[in-house]
Amino acid sequence: MNNQVSYYNRFGKQFEQSILECPEPAVWTTDYAHKGRVYQEMKVRVAQQQKLITEFFTKEEPVLDIGCGFGRQAFLLAKEGFSVTGTDTSDIFISIAKKLFNKYGYKGRFYCMDMLNGENPGGVFKQLLLLDVLEHIRPFQRRKFLEQIFQLTTPCAKLIVSLPHVKKRLSSQVNNRVRKGITQHFVYFTNREEHPYPIPEKKDIVKLIPALFSIERELTSPDTDYYMLTKI
Ligand SMILES: C[S@@+](CC[C@H](N)C(=O)[O-])C[C@H]1O[C@@H](n2cnc3c(N)ncnc32)[C@H](O)[C@@H]1O
Repeated sequence: MNNQVSYYNRFGKQFEQSILECPEPAVWTTDYAHKGRVYQEMKVRVAQQQKLITEFFTKEEPVLDIGCGFGRQAFLLAKEGFSVTGTDTSDIFISIAKKLFNKYGYKGRFYCMDMLNGENPGGVFKQLLLLDVLEHIRPFQRRKFLEQIFQLTTPCAKLIVSLPHVKKRLSSQVNNRVRKGITQHFVYFTNREEHPYPIPEKKDIVKLIPALFSIERELTSPDTDYYMLTKI
């Protein structure tokens, strides 16, 4: 099993009950109970995502949420009346997403699949989300990953990508480029760390998308970078 899958499956098993019992699943975090720092950041992040979705997506078209995790954004989308399909490599996360939708009586389709394998979650989509996922793909596979996503899009499709923001200061740059350049080659780290691979920055995105997507808009916050991409 892929090491990132083991990482997220362990996480999912540990927190399944807490996620399912959370009164606000879209902003669930490990520190939700005492509304700690991660929760505060998540609230801001989810509000930003909601704003972008409202601006760029329409409820008339279904949404494909790639790397949907336990269904955080899918839940919000369904709550607002979008038709949503989610995919993830973690079978535990997919099972939690299904249980969450069942609990709230929402309709949604969830598939455990690795988008790198070229599997099809049921047709082509005009609206796609890739929220905090690309950094979990090995750098040398990121172009192929985007090519596979491209295959699942209709003409003029829109893809909203989010990535953790890598600060400009030298220590953050060194940590991202040098340390993660090393950790990505060791199973020990890829099995235990949520972010064992270097996080793509704007210059990497620009190199990854030619002939597939163009950047329609970008937005930077202290924690997250967003790219609104349009299919070429
Ligand atoms: C940081 S989580 C983000 C989850 C969710 N999108 C969010 O923003 O809360 C990254 C997710 O990407 C999934 N993932 C990693 N590689 C993937 C792949 N090749 N295909 C589909 N999902 C993948 C992981 O299992 C994990 O659930």
